[in-house]
Amino acid sequence: MNKFLKQIINLIVVFFVTISCAQSKMHLDKDKAIEERITLLMDQMTLDEKVGQMNQYNGSWDFTGPLPESGSEEEKYEHIKKGWVGSMLSVRGTDKVRAVQKIAVEETRLGIPIIFGFDVIHGYKTLSPIPLAEAASWDLEAIKNSARVAADEASAAGLNWTFGPNVDISNDARWGRIMEGAGEDTYLGVKVAKARVTGFQGTDLSANNTIASCAKHFAAYGFAEAGLEYNSAEMGTSKLYNVVLPPFKAAVDAGVRTFMNSFNTLNGVPATGDTFLQRDILKGAWNFNGYVVSDWASIREMVVHGYAADGADASAKAVTAGSDMDMESHLYVKELVKLVEDGTVDEKLIDDAVRRILRVKFELGLFDDPYKYCDAEREKAVTGSEAMNDAVLDMAKKSIVLLKNDGNILPLKKSGQRIALIGALAADKNSPLGSWRIAADDNTAVSVLEGMQEYKGNTLVYEKGTDVSLGQQLFVQEVKINSEDYSGFDAAKKAASEADVVVMVLGEVGFQSGEARSRTELGLPGNQQELLEAVFEINKNVVLVLNNGRPLALPWAAENVPAIVEAWQLGTQTGNAVAQVLYGDYNPSGKLPVSFPRSVGQCPIYYNHLRTGRPVNSQDNVFWSHYIDSQKTPLYPFGYGLSYTSFKYENLKLNKSQYTKGETIELSVEVTNTGNLDGKEVVQLYINDPVASIVRPVKELKGFELVELKKGETKTVKFILTDAELGFYNNNGDYLVEAGKFNVMIGGQSDKGLTGQFEIE
Ligand code: NOJ
Repeated sequence: MNKFLKQIINLIVVFFVTISCAQSKMHLDKDKAIEERITLLMDQMTLDEKVGQMNQYNGSWDFTGPLPESGSEEEKYEHIKKGWVGSMLSVRGTDKVRAVQKIAVEETRLGIPIIFGFDVIHGYKTLSPIPLAEAASWDLEAIKNSARVAADEASAAGLNWTFGPNVDISNDARWGRIMEGAGEDTYLGVKVAKARVTGFQGTDLSANNTIASCAKHFAAYGFAEAGLEYNSAEMGTSKLYNVVLPPFKAAVDAGVRTFMNSFNTLNGVPATGDTFLQRDILKGAWNFNGYVVSDWASIREMVVHGYAADGADASAKAVTAGSDMDMESHLYVKELVKLVEDGTVDEKLIDDAVRRILRVKFELGLFDDPYKYCDAEREKAVTGSEAMNDAVLDMAKKSIVLLKNDGNILPLKKSGQRIALIGALAADKNSPLGSWRIAADDNTAVSVLEGMQEYKGNTLVYEKGTDVSLGQQLFVQEVKINSEDYSGFDAAKKAASEADVVVMVLGEVGFQSGEARSRTELGLPGNQQELLEAVFEINKNVVLVLNNGRPLALPWAAENVPAIVEAWQLGTQTGNAVAQVLYGDYNPSGKLPVSFPRSVGQCPIYYNHLRTGRPVNSQDNVFWSHYIDSQKTPLYPFGYGLSYTSFKYENLKLNKSQYTKGETIELSVEVTNTGNLDGKEVVQLYINDPVASIVRPVKELKGFELVELKKGETKTVKFILTDAELGFYNNNGDYLVEAGKFNVMIGGQSDKGLTGQFEIE
């Protein structure tokens, strides 16, 4: 070849290389629309690389599920380098995230950044109350702010995606994950879902302090049979559409960018392989354009369920059903390329999944700056800051529910008192952090003891009484409960005998609720009930402060103990929040987002149940819906909670008695603070549709407002009802607003209030 020809060929090669290089960077052009950028990138991706985007691995240290059968750390790093990892979970801290991101961006062919997910369930390192407790505030702004600050702290630690909120409705206290949701009610669940999603994501997902959120677990996980973790759920479409799905739909409407499916089967189909849920409803009817991540190894578990023959079959079924990303099954990366090549899986499904995943990465701005969440200075400034602590303290106080206060034993006097503080949980700095506190340092909560020590006017004597658990507590292991050791009882009784008031902090340790923590008993674990009764025998002035991640069944306490404060697990600032409430520096206003049963045998128990054909004892015989050994009402109903002041409801008014579809109807009520303190009240509106083509619950929450009232003040609280509140889904999933009479009730709890009627024409 002569020199001239060689030069020409070289020039041609350089020309094409230049063009292809220019093409390969075109998706980085910020001025282009995201959909175009995705196309530009996908056009360059091999099938391997596409499947890689659908693969999520866990980081090396925080396991939140069973260990995978394959996948050493080295293998994971090898896979990242090959561009086979689109996402990592539980890699946290700017240094670690940066290091992993660097491999993805600098060492892979296309440099596609990784999205980093983490369980920011109620905070990252500085913890808010558990979500169930937050829901007890009924304060949507506060809940939104709690998610906002959690996003701030998590994003400062390199994260850009939370596996929250959990929007599972659950009415079964046996289920340990009831602590993660907003409780038993769909209307409240819808509002809280929206607050949390908007809190995490903010108004600009591309900002470096907002993170993508994830509505989970899709769907019906909260209805695991018998409250048994990972158990199957069976339900008709009416319950699915009316009770389970609305909070998920609300999350979509609020712009949630990702969904997580669930471990359970629903009516015999694992949710991970459920086309009806993921394709027909979520991506079809709801038009969701984000992506769905599987739950931990839930693709592989479809084999164990008996729904897939092997890993390949499970992968094919999951991707076909709409599971876009594989969390820790290690199957997509192993099977999907082959499945496409042999024609089992249509490549269009892969393209659809990858487009969804890339869309969220582009929206987060990861292609514009893959290290935007890796600012070590910011991490230092934000993590555990005073502002973070102030925010979680505010949320913690708002989450407390006063269940009983006979003789106004609370608030405590600030001086001249001898107070015995009893219970291992009172000095526990770990349990208040709850169970989803993976990034929090151990023993970093302010204990109740520390909180109360801030009040110097009284003499405070602390006695443990008894240990709730023995040995080390870990997220991945069973808690060992103490039922044998009574050695602290005597000292506790002595302290009680010398005290004016006894504050007992009893309940569950942090790791007794949360994932894989189902219980068959709902009393105080171990020998705490015995301790309570022994102390009470000596001193009746007992204030029981409950720490728990689920409703407990405490009929003896409800009957005997004069004051009960539901303090859940309130996070980092627990002790300060509890002390401020006990001493009256904060007037509690929380209301239960879930019914508290009298006994475990009542579970599941919820206020918005159907009527049955024999709801009452009308003929003085046994043939009515009841228990022969217990009342059927809850110990404490949904919506219930006291204040240090009192409220009176008067003058319920409706602006019309006939409602025409498409219109609005306005209801108003006067609420007066009749006590001696300023306070807040959650005014609740319930409706009942007494005759319908599909029977409706005895009551349904359809509005609420948190009102602040100075002592003596009266406010008129207004509610508007529209078709959106007055209809329901039938068994075909059609939304109906039916003519006929409606009952309404407005009050401060679900079982009492002023009533009225109107009619839909
Ligand atoms: C399993 C849990 O069900 C899910 O909620 C969580 O996000 C993942 N593990 C990741 O930790």
